[in-house]
Amino acid sequence: MAPSVSDIASNAAEQVSNGLSKLNLKETKQEEKPQDKGPSYPFYYPYFDAAEKFPPTELFEHTDPGLRADPKKPNLLGPNTKVHHISPYLGTEITGVQLSQLNEAGLDELALYTAERKVVVFRDQDFKDIGPDKQIALTKRYGPIQRHPTSGNVKGYPEFHVVYRDAENDRFKEYLGDNRANKTSWHSDVSYERQPPGTTFFFILDQPPVGGDTLFASQVEAYNRLSDGFKKRLEGLRAVHSAVAQAEHSRQRGGPVRREPVESEHPVVRVHPVTGEKALFVNPGFTRRIVGFKDEESEWLLKFLFDHITKGADFSIRAAWQPGTVVIWDNRVSIHSATPDFDKNLRRHAVRLTPQAEVPIPA
Ligand SMILES: [Fe+2]
Repeated sequence: MAPSVSDIASNAAEQVSNGLSKLNLKETKQEEKPQDKGPSYPFYYPYFDAAEKFPPTELFEHTDPGLRADPKKPNLLGPNTKVHHISPYLGTEITGVQLSQLNEAGLDELALYTAERKVVVFRDQDFKDIGPDKQIALTKRYGPIQRHPTSGNVKGYPEFHVVYRDAENDRFKEYLGDNRANKTSWHSDVSYERQPPGTTFFFILDQPPVGGDTLFASQVEAYNRLSDGFKKRLEGLRAVHSAVAQAEHSRQRGGPVRREPVESEHPVVRVHPVTGEKALFVNPGFTRRIVGFKDEESEWLLKFLFDHITKGADFSIRAAWQPGTVVIWDNRVSIHSATPDFDKNLRRHAVRLTPQAEVPIPA
């Protein structure tokens, strides 16, 4: 009989705990409890300072590096590069490229390639080891890095958005409560910003042996699936994206609210500045209402769109994390969700760098 999900999860937990037991044999005998070595990268342990404050974000001119890129991408995809497409619509896994070694042209091509593929999974990267200054210098080429108003960051480096879970810290439970049958939580990162992020970097530091994948869906293909009449109805509509609930949640638990929460109106259908592709730009995480619609009309339309984009298994992928994986996604044309399916005693530690892009271009 095939093992159940809980068998696999508890076997994985057991493997890790066995590994820890071997490493800490003496302590284990004395305390009868495996000792946790702690995070592999303690520098990036989430830092929360409720007194930390940022000024309001100012508008800036954005020119996407993808516009400068050679469409053939000779500096990104060399003869040693292995390219594996995960779905026709989005997601490509790449080995044989070291992000930290790309030249300027290669970094521009990366923006174009990410826009085209929506999600690119780079394996075996040294990115996690090049240090915070180089990590920030490389990623801010794609736009000023968003400093998150509420999440854990790194002391002295507010550019880092830290995602962390271990036996003592369960942020999934904090955010979603403990009574959800389905713990997926689809969103486009910080879409409430006046200039929401584009090319976004996420690198893993500790991961469970099984589980903790990230789900992604293409908002371009979600748009393409609609009928011409429905597409026409959506074009010109705007929706409100709100940071208020996130700020309130942080305030209630005594966490930081580094900037007063913003609400932005964005087009329901936006155009990517590099590829020209049209994409739906609503998400259950932050989109609250359709501007100018009555409450029931707005609820009806958003419910349909949320169902459509989050249930499109035929235009979504799951990205699995291995040591050294860096995933880059374009938040303008994709949505994603964590899968908090792994044993709660296991650690998952990752860091996001989130360059902001243009004011969304309406279709
Ligand atoms: Fe996210």
